Amino acid sequence: MARFVLKDTFYKKAKQEGFRARSAYKLQEIQNRFHSIKKGDRALDLGCAPGSWLQFLSEMVGEEGSVVGIDILPAPPLSAKNVTTIKADIRKTDIRGVLSEQAIDAFDVVTCDIAPNLSGIREVDDARIEELFGAVLQTVEAALKPGGHFIIKSFFTGIQKGIMEKLQKNFLKVSAYKPAASRSVSSEVYYICQGKR
Ligand SMILES: C[S@@+](CC[C@H](N)C(=O)[O-])C[C@H]1O[C@@H](n2cnc3c(N)ncnc32)[C@H](O)[C@@H]1O
Repeated sequence: MARFVLKDTFYKKAKQEGFRARSAYKLQEIQNRFHSIKKGDRALDLGCAPGSWLQFLSEMVGEEGSVVGIDILPAPPLSAKNVTTIKADIRKTDIRGVLSEQAIDAFDVVTCDIAPNLSGIREVDDARIEELFGAVLQTVEAALKPGGHFIIKSFFTGIQKGIMEKLQKNFLKVSAYKPAASRSVSSEVYYICQGKR
């Protein structure tokens, strides 16, 4: 029963406050705890549609900053002037081309809320997740500045341990965090990776 109340609360709050999805509150909680996003930052959001993280990031980085969102699905345009969206599969995105279009060497922060299409067949899903995480990590490697922060959603699967190890190799500190806005029945967890090596 409690979880339905929770779902309803965040859903209604998102509607009232004009966020496109309740997910915005997950990123807000992460930000309140880890302070990864700063005014003036250039942020990259992977798996950005429908765009509630873009809305929150846009506010956090302010007018001096900018946000680029990438999703395989189109994200409805936002009125915020500091947000650009690109419809693309992250596995096939020319991230260096994105950097050059933005006229920057690197992003200050990368967020990733990508949810892979899962089949329910463990081996198939592990392979899909591994491929997707490989592409995301390559993107981060190429596009995040040294010292930059990375926030990524993950799921408990057979390769979970491997993901954590890869992140720890690339960042000074990695914390696993489950925001209250994340449904308690969901196995989703966020990794907050601070200080790219
Ligand atoms: C949970 S939604 C993201 C919600 C978003 N953070 C928000 O607040 O509105 C996950 C997104 O991952 C995207 N996605 C899945 N596979 C992808 C891929 N290979 N490349 C880019 N985006 C992908 C989906 O299209 C979906 O929009």
